[in-house]
Amino acid sequence: MIQVAILGFGVVGGGVAKVLEENAALLRARFQTDVSLKYILDIRDFTGHAMAQRIVRDFSTIEKDPEISVVFEAMGGVHPALEYSLAAIRAHKSVITSNKELVAHHGQLLLREAATAGVRYLFEASVGGGIPIIRPLSDCLAANRVTSVTGIMNGTTNYILTQMEKNGASFSDALSDAQARGYAERDPSADIDGVDTCRKLCILADLAFGYQVDPARVLCEGIRRITEQDISDASDAGYRIKLLGHVRETASGIVPIVAPFFIKKTHILSGVSGVFNGIGVVGNMVGETMFFGHGAGSAPTASAMVGDLIEALERPSTPVGWSDTAPDHFVQDAKTLAFSRYARFVSPTKAQKEAILDAADAVLRDKDGTLSVILKPMDAQTCEVFLASIMPASPESVIRIFVPGEYVPEE
Ligand code: HSE
Repeated sequence: MIQVAILGFGVVGGGVAKVLEENAALLRARFQTDVSLKYILDIRDFTGHAMAQRIVRDFSTIEKDPEISVVFEAMGGVHPALEYSLAAIRAHKSVITSNKELVAHHGQLLLREAATAGVRYLFEASVGGGIPIIRPLSDCLAANRVTSVTGIMNGTTNYILTQMEKNGASFSDALSDAQARGYAERDPSADIDGVDTCRKLCILADLAFGYQVDPARVLCEGIRRITEQDISDASDAGYRIKLLGHVRETASGIVPIVAPFFIKKTHILSGVSGVFNGIGVVGNMVGETMFFGHGAGSAPTASAMVGDLIEALERPSTPVGWSDTAPDHFVQDAKTLAFSRYARFVSPTKAQKEAILDAADAVLRDKDGTLSVILKPMDAQTCEVFLASIMPASPESVIRIFVPGEYVPEE
């Protein structure tokens, strides 16, 4: 019999218990033995719950039980998830997690400890929920030099942007709707400020490029300032607005960015709507690949975690990993990249309007005192200088345009 424990009996932990129970026959057929959920660590009161007998409040019960071979960490946050994960690994138990914050910040340490202990640290569910992306990237695409990864990796913000486009909802109404449906994290700022996407992008960058990338080094912008007017101008011009995590290789390293982008309606990521996620990986041999599915939710996330159980049991000591910390120059600042940008100005003077049109490649709207344009490609500093030069007509909105394959750092 294989005995396992779950840390945290919330949405994700509850999903893992459900998959273990509902798909027990399938797992038994795979392993030729039962998978038994022995403990669930949670400090809340589950009196009367069908699983009440399995609830424990002291992690050391799990740590010290030699019968437990695999621990599902579904607590979220860094502490005490980090301490518990390290303790479980050092007690020779494989750890499976959906915790992107922990993996993004401490994945390197946890993988190294798992290698030393001869167990697995697995985190398929940390990016893209139920979408297979971690093992495809680290195994199936391992024969490639990855040139870029681009994705919609946050279901909450994608739901909000989709609601704004389809129903003309304001940002705050769409956010309230997402919260009412339980999509947003406990603190929605991690979703709407791009932090959640940034952590996921860093995990994928780690796997794709071989170094742990510190989320603090990534230019990260969220969607709080996106308005109905932005969405409508984008749509009229043949674009949608999506919160993208993007990282691409350069001659001497990589350049990551998380930000809302205008993306052509014809681009495959534009069709990823609602809470779905979509992640594209480009490799120098395979070309373009695309992974799509449920990026969050109890059952999809648990599907990935129980998939990791199979991986942990069938290949118990071959950790996926990145071994070194990135050298300083390796992660480059996306501010050096030249982007075209959508910009909207309200009531510019005649002189300001002339300056704006001089710097524009296209005019999207010029009526009722509003001028919306696509600015010529500029790096961040050039753009700031330009916008400052035409003050006080500072734009209502400035949003980068995503053009696959056209980001060349300015040397
Ligand atoms: N808050 C996250 C999302 C959950 O909306 O995608 C899954 O990581």
